[in-house]
Amino acid sequence: MRRGSIRTIMTAAATTVALTLGAGVANAAATPGAPGAGDVYFPDYGNGGYDVQHYDVRVRYQPATDQLSGTTTILARSTQDLSRFNLDFALDVSSVQVNNRAATFTREGDHELVVTPARQVPQGANLTVTVKYAGIPSQVEVNGYTGWSRTADGALAVNEPESAWWWFPSNDHPTDKATYDVSVLAPDDVQVISNGTLTSGPNPELKGWNRWYWRSAKPQATYLTYIAIGRYDIETDTAADGSPIINAFSTSLGDFEGAARAGINRTNEIIETEEQWFGTYPFEARGGVAAIPGAPGFALETQTRPVYDGRFWRRGGNTYVVAHENAHQWFGDSVSLTQWRDIWLNEGFASYAEWLWSEHEGEGTPQELFDYTYASYPADDPFWQVLPGDPGADKVFDSAVYDRGALTLQALRVQIGDDAFFELLPTWLQEHQYGNGTTDEFIALAEKISGQQLDDLFTTWLFTPERPDLTTGTTLAR
Ligand code: ARG
Ligand code: ZN
Repeated sequence: MRRGSIRTIMTAAATTVALTLGAGVANAAATPGAPGAGDVYFPDYGNGGYDVQHYDVRVRYQPATDQLSGTTTILARSTQDLSRFNLDFALDVSSVQVNNRAATFTREGDHELVVTPARQVPQGANLTVTVKYAGIPSQVEVNGYTGWSRTADGALAVNEPESAWWWFPSNDHPTDKATYDVSVLAPDDVQVISNGTLTSGPNPELKGWNRWYWRSAKPQATYLTYIAIGRYDIETDTAADGSPIINAFSTSLGDFEGAARAGINRTNEIIETEEQWFGTYPFEARGGVAAIPGAPGFALETQTRPVYDGRFWRRGGNTYVVAHENAHQWFGDSVSLTQWRDIWLNEGFASYAEWLWSEHEGEGTPQELFDYTYASYPADDPFWQVLPGDPGADKVFDSAVYDRGALTLQALRVQIGDDAFFELLPTWLQEHQYGNGTTDEFIALAEKISGQQLDDLFTTWLFTPERPDLTTGTTLAR
């Protein structure tokens, strides 16, 4: 789904019927959709030639064997005359249908599924693509790696940037966001959590098996779509706007359980605090999932409800990770990357949100945290060699992306003043809500709102492989 596409679809409904009926008329101009979405870091992630509106993912999962099987139905619209198109997927596929007709399919590399519809597809046509598949995701490696975490009592499909390949076929790039229905049939001794709201379930369906139906109703990037399967205590409450707060705590948290609850139970308070800086929370549900300690190995800002490795709660009173992951609901989830290269737009901003939360908690101020962070990396530290604005595909989660990204925002705030800075953040989020943004667009908006020329500041902080000099004044007037 691209920005504005919902309205286009509705008003173009009549035209679409005509185009769909015209499908199958041989079109010499029809060409294959591109095997990538144009990402400079990950050229084969995502695909071209179509735009997804909705995924309906319906799977069965057996924790005892890690067997996953199911059907994903993708509602999309062609953006060119298509002779064939790619999906990104790594499990074994048994059939593909396009608009109710069997399509032929082949594999290229380890995550490309090349689909050739029985009839060519004209530009602007509605596509209903149904893929049936099965596999053991923890055993399917792409580039020697699986992003699927099998646990003692279930599994987590939680990873960034690659996560979907192991459980549903997709256009796997944040430029093509869509809504989701995720339905999972699982043994009745485990729970299943996904994004958004539980529209139904757990419903007994087979002896010893329950089906869970989750729905995420706002545009969502593929990597932010998750399932957590295992033994969880699920607790629900209601936020002031009437939306559900759904928290899930692994029953294996052990000594971490108190700290996990102390952190995640403050999610709504943290979101309401962040709303003062970022504007209205953009989604229909909130909460957090405290996964089993050791999985997935990090925390991720899965849309509407972040997932936290149980080990995040090793220390008590850890609300910073909650502030970080929920700040991503605005920076990353509502406003998503156009290029993975611009990852500081996610991580720098979520890290800066921790500094704002710190001050709110009566702890260090952003300027104190700036000074401390700056001083903690000596000038010859390799930290300063990594450019937050272009870290390289193998360093998208380098500490420079997080810490120097946050340093950049404090430098910007000092340069343009609090009024402009706290106008810039919500304006950026409003202008790109449910869509995508780029670093260049952010810099242009910062210049427009501040009335200042900011090329020097951003070049110094995002794109220069050395420690910025705080005394020269071009970067930081204290
Ligand atoms: N976006 C996550 C965060 O908020 C980081 C995910 C790191 N992913 C990974 N595969 N290590 O920090
Ligand atoms: Zn982050």
